[in-house]
Amino acid sequence: MIIAIDGPAAAGKGTLARRLAAHFGLAYLDTGAVYRAVARRLLDAGAVPTDEAAALAAARTVTADDLHDPRLRDEAVGRATSVVSALPAVRAALLDFQRRFAARPPGGEPGAVLDGRDIGTVVCPDATIKIFLTADPVERARRRAKELRERGLDTIDSRVLRDIRERDARDSSRATAPLVPAADAHVIDTTQLDADAAFAAALAYIATREI
Ligand code: DC
Repeated sequence: MIIAIDGPAAAGKGTLARRLAAHFGLAYLDTGAVYRAVARRLLDAGAVPTDEAAALAAARTVTADDLHDPRLRDEAVGRATSVVSALPAVRAALLDFQRRFAARPPGGEPGAVLDGRDIGTVVCPDATIKIFLTADPVERARRRAKELRERGLDTIDSRVLRDIRERDARDSSRATAPLVPAADAHVIDTTQLDADAAFAAALAYIATREI
């Protein structure tokens, strides 16, 4: 069983994906963290995110151990990631990593939940369940700012909103694997939903599918 959760930044994908994975006993892969790990490696090496050769080298050497670095959540890494992830060579290099995880989850689970931007469209086009999670950008910026403050970071709300809009535009307009709902994805708008309500909506949808 493969569950694909796609959507823009701060729509609640990670929270929903983690809960679905626990509920169904599946492995979980945050594919944004995979792209973030590439950007983190680049920034650590002093390279700029548009340096395609350096980005490709970083993408080829990324491992599961890189995915747990708390610095991956930094906004500077998020911005660099949005640039790095538009490079077709980087996307191609990370495709195998993601598909291998889905086909053979490392813990031997009977399937996986993957969240990202192109899981239902490119990485796992045959996923059992596809959910596209979205929310109003102002609400997403509010959530992201709250999360940053809870981590003790100085946050300017208008800056967070601007970053969200910039990343939405970049993720949606890139030529390779842009952020779009798969034709067979179920769209859930979480603007008015908290995490429990989003989880309930996802379970209700999954229950309507024969799996
Ligand atoms: O979900 P996130 O904020 O951690 O994602 C960080 C960036 O990575 C985002 O700007 C787009 C990119 N990304 C992608 O292009 N494809 C994915 N499957 C996941 C993330």
